[in-house]
Amino acid sequence: MTRIAEGVFWVGATDWTRRDFHGYTTRRGTTYNSYLILDEKKALIDTVQSPHFQELLARVKELVDPGEIDYLVSLHVEPDHSGSLSQVLALCPRAQLVTVERHGEQGLQKYYQQKLPLMTVKEGSTLSLGKRSLSFFPTPMLHWPDNMLAFLSPDAILFSSDAFGQHLASSGRFDDQADMSVVMDEAAKYYANIILPFPTQVARALEKTRALNPKVIAPAHGVMWRGHIPQILDAYGRWSRGETRPRAMVVYDTMWHSTEAMALAVVEGIENEGVEVSLHSLATSDSSDIVAELLETRALAVGCPILNNNLLPRMAGFLAYLKGLRPRGRIGAAFGSFGWGGATAVKAIKEDLTLAGLEVLEDELAVRFAPTQEELQACRLLGQKLAQRVKG
Ligand SMILES: [Fe+2]
Ligand SMILES: [Fe+2]
Repeated sequence: MTRIAEGVFWVGATDWTRRDFHGYTTRRGTTYNSYLILDEKKALIDTVQSPHFQELLARVKELVDPGEIDYLVSLHVEPDHSGSLSQVLALCPRAQLVTVERHGEQGLQKYYQQKLPLMTVKEGSTLSLGKRSLSFFPTPMLHWPDNMLAFLSPDAILFSSDAFGQHLASSGRFDDQADMSVVMDEAAKYYANIILPFPTQVARALEKTRALNPKVIAPAHGVMWRGHIPQILDAYGRWSRGETRPRAMVVYDTMWHSTEAMALAVVEGIENEGVEVSLHSLATSDSSDIVAELLETRALAVGCPILNNNLLPRMAGFLAYLKGLRPRGRIGAAFGSFGWGGATAVKAIKEDLTLAGLEVLEDELAVRFAPTQEELQACRLLGQKLAQRVKG
């Protein structure tokens, strides 16, 4: 249990060993943040994923008899936050379950398939707790249609759900108790892998957050912000505007090292133009890490050979992930090797990059079996062309 302010506590769970959220690798674990407000009325904000229910319960019991809780506020239907809802409600006979109208109530009803003591709220709804009150601001598609912000007055604590979160297990509960380079790194990875498709919604939530001027921002995962609020708000501003740095990434997969040789030559071409570049093989780099790095990167070159008239499966998976995240406003390029048939993977890569929102260079750089010196030179030229676009 951690005290945030007089009568306001973090009572969540720390999942030190979690390493995967359906493909998003969480190298530093995560937390499921749950908050307890003790006033004339008592409110619990969000629960934890069900295997961690006992941890939540123990923390709540240190402070109050769960039977005295008046409101269970669900800021997000996703099961890592609503997962202990049935167990919590069973211990809180008088609690009402507060959720956003329509998507919140429908989502919770379908997940938990039991009679729920629902109380719905909408934009600007206020719940008086006594000396304090909670105001609600739905943030649809940040990152499900049921997410909302809750603002506690007069303490000025913003419970922000997915916004400003990080998958980070740590002993300190606040940003100023953790290594800020790690916190920002994880905030960026979270944004890139979860929030990237929704820049308009982020801009709106950011405007609301700035207007509320919170002293503490308490997200659904990771540390709470109190010492570095301007830093995370500025970062969200940059990321939602799609601002990138003049750097490039080359991502490839390979069968017999031909596409790999091409990738290295593309990297050389980019370096020759004095542009920062990094290289990732899908055999050793993870898609969620690549996407995190792409968040502030202006260009992406992708290389893959053909296998049975298709992309290699790892590349198909990476491009499917990228299409879902839609990292608009970046420049793309494609290359790859092929075999005895005429088909190449380049067309498919270009199509997928275009669907992911990238502006893709026209070039169709494909080589049969293994690249010659001339073909490697063409790869360098592709790299140079991409780097010139990055600088331009
Ligand atoms: Fe979550
Ligand atoms: Fe979520």
